[in-house]
Amino acid sequence: MGNTESVLLIGGGGREHAIAQALTADARCRLYACAENRNPGIAALSADFNSISATSVDAIVEYATTDPVDADLAIIGPESALEAGVADALDAAGVYTFGPTAETARIETDKAFQRQFMQSESIPGCPDFAVFEEIEAACAYIDETEHDLAVKPAGLTGGKGVRVIGDQVTESEAKSYLRESEYEQIVLEERLVGEEFTVQAFVANGELRITPAIQDHKRAYEGDTGPNTGGMGSYSDTTQTLPFMSAEEYTDAVAILEATVEALPAYKGVLYGQFMLTSDGPRVIEFNARFGDPEAMNTLPILETSLLDIMRAAQHDESLPALSFSNQATVCKYAVPEGYPTDPHSGTKITVDEESAESVRVYYASVDSREDGLYTTTSRAFAVVGIADSIATAESQAETALSTVADGLRVRHDVGTPSLLQRRIEHMDAIREE
Ligand code: AMP
Ligand code: GLY
Repeated sequence: MGNTESVLLIGGGGREHAIAQALTADARCRLYACAENRNPGIAALSADFNSISATSVDAIVEYATTDPVDADLAIIGPESALEAGVADALDAAGVYTFGPTAETARIETDKAFQRQFMQSESIPGCPDFAVFEEIEAACAYIDETEHDLAVKPAGLTGGKGVRVIGDQVTESEAKSYLRESEYEQIVLEERLVGEEFTVQAFVANGELRITPAIQDHKRAYEGDTGPNTGGMGSYSDTTQTLPFMSAEEYTDAVAILEATVEALPAYKGVLYGQFMLTSDGPRVIEFNARFGDPEAMNTLPILETSLLDIMRAAQHDESLPALSFSNQATVCKYAVPEGYPTDPHSGTKITVDEESAESVRVYYASVDSREDGLYTTTSRAFAVVGIADSIATAESQAETALSTVADGLRVRHDVGTPSLLQRRIEHMDAIREE
């Protein structure tokens, strides 16, 4: 295959479409992909797309190591694959995988481990917390504790398992939630108040390379109301910080990621810090062991360094390249089926006007390809990302591209708007003054 290099991508969402685009922007990359759902965007960029679930470890290894794939490099998108041990198995089969082992990925997949790890390693930014195996003991702790708590199942819930007392639920609703669900382990922790943001870093060989801060919008509806989702949209600014954040606050968040990597010298892949900017500076809401979805769609389109070069350096124990970004603002908005996430209606025809949407990127997530076009499933359908010299311009570009979106799909039109940004700044100013 001449000078091409086979790389296997695992996962089929919007995040993975962005990874596929970043990898194939490097002409040396010959991409292969596997995911249960056929993502038409990834398939179009790949030499082959195999419908293997991201957690089918043996089938993935078999695909990666046989003709025509024969990859020696892989990258994992979803946390479910990390938890299943896909990185362990591919590494063992000689396919260097940019993603942590199942044990190291516990920093995301086990929230009790994550908090205990932060505490034992003295990583700054950890809220007060307690871990429970008994539901009634957890309910008693809720009764005894004076301040509001966040209630978190320890395992993976696709971002939808957390209930914050005083924000989403009352104390008694939180207790009913615990009694009705059958979680084996619960983390109860101090409710953090402020503005949330994400910082992702490329990590390997004890080193990290940081990327600009991003703000995701987890709540389903405009004005940050409704249930939590996997993420409805996100934005980043022309600098590394966000409008409500100082350079020092960003540096403090980076210091937390640095301390984490120091405590996990074998970590490889993307380390994602989800922070709450509080009156005491950034505190950790969670770590993820992968790119965020949607955040990958903000980061990768403005990354000028080759993702293939970053992964090759990691593979060969070389220092990671310094990252270069185009210093543009990005606004990403997901189109989701009506009723998402609680009662999503599938089967809506999707119209994406890619022609008139020239200044934006379109990333497919979960779509059903039929003979006469693409239809929604019950998950997020596709995202558009505006990229411009200001957040406001990127936001209007994203909206223009979404103007042809059909009935039956919903978008959070407030993501990245000047009025929402102003509210964030005022909210943070009020918190700092308290
Ligand atoms: P997670 O699944 O840990 O990302 O939590 C989902 C969402 O719950 C976060 O994005 C926050 O909005 C909220 N959350 C989680 N932990 C806390 C906390 N300690 N204080 C306040 N909100 C939280
Ligand atoms: N955007 C949140 C996540 O990827 O978990």
